[in-house]
Amino acid sequence: MTNRDRIDGLAALPREELRELLSHHSDEDSAYLFYKARAARERVYGKAVYLRGLIEFSSHCKNDCYYCGLRRSNANAARYRLSQAEILDCCAQGYALGFRTFVLQSGEDPYYHDARMAAIVLEIRQTYPDCAITLSLGERSRESLQALFDAGADRYLLRHETANAAHYARLHPPELRLSSRVECLRDLRDIGYQVGCGFMVGSPGQTIDCLLDDLAFLAEFQPDMVGIGPFLPHKETPFANERAGSVETTLFLLGIIRLLLPRVLLPATTALGTASPLGREKGLLAGANVIMPNLSPVAVRKKYMLYDGKICTGEEAAECRNCLQRRVESVGCSIVTSRGDPAR
Ligand code: 5AD
Ligand code: FES
Repeated sequence: MTNRDRIDGLAALPREELRELLSHHSDEDSAYLFYKARAARERVYGKAVYLRGLIEFSSHCKNDCYYCGLRRSNANAARYRLSQAEILDCCAQGYALGFRTFVLQSGEDPYYHDARMAAIVLEIRQTYPDCAITLSLGERSRESLQALFDAGADRYLLRHETANAAHYARLHPPELRLSSRVECLRDLRDIGYQVGCGFMVGSPGQTIDCLLDDLAFLAEFQPDMVGIGPFLPHKETPFANERAGSVETTLFLLGIIRLLLPRVLLPATTALGTASPLGREKGLLAGANVIMPNLSPVAVRKKYMLYDGKICTGEEAAECRNCLQRRVESVGCSIVTSRGDPAR
């Protein structure tokens, strides 16, 4: 079997053939994969790129993930919380710029208990009935996720980080478990959310087998959205001296995921844009169709540092909007103003 055959048969490829494709491929193979991934994306979504306005509303976190700059043990991390009014201001700015999805993201911060969080979601829902509300708050109880859904949230992003339990334990302290993460993802699906999972590429200890487990998990779980980006070290974490994940591998995986899940909403992530100046454009050319620019107030942006060197921390939302328009058009795509729900 050649790599061309493997790419042509990707949707039903046995694990060992996928292993071969992931571990040995040429630049020509990548070009063919990206070409097929773009064609698959265009059959479902045309040239559309969807924008999600990201509001990073709290940098407090009770967890201690080894890779993340917001981990509770990072005493040098700058911590902030946005009020309900400040979050609504971000939405107003975003709406004026054409955003129809707001992504509320934070560390796992108990300050935003169910009543407080539900009030925020409800006000956004009532003010912007035509917009999608996406939450990215980490793991919460089923009751909590249900209450936020009832308040008007539509979507939830919770990266599984790695589908390999031993690798999960290498990235997280013992109190965090892959099984709890996956249970939370299944709760979200049962409740009726559109669900996004995902993983870092090149995180410490990641092997080809971990990536094969990730792809098998995606094929089984059939998420509506998949967020992947290269691991990037943060200087105040235990992984400060680890190598960054590969941009090439991230792009290759984007192409594979597009062919595995043709209808998936697939962001060209900020981490990809941080790892390489044209990373997001290359992501779109590899099959991605979503971009998640920052809508957080510029005053707090540098305080939401998951990894070193994060881009767009000095830009106003309007600047990012214009910058992205140029970037998206440079690869023959166009930004559309709509909620950008998954194609059914
Ligand atoms: N490098 C790359 N991505 C990271 N994330 C957290 N820390 C890092 C890092 N050092 C990702 C995780 C998380 C998402 C919000 O950001 O996958 O789920
Ligand atoms: Fe933020 Fe380019 S996307 S400045």
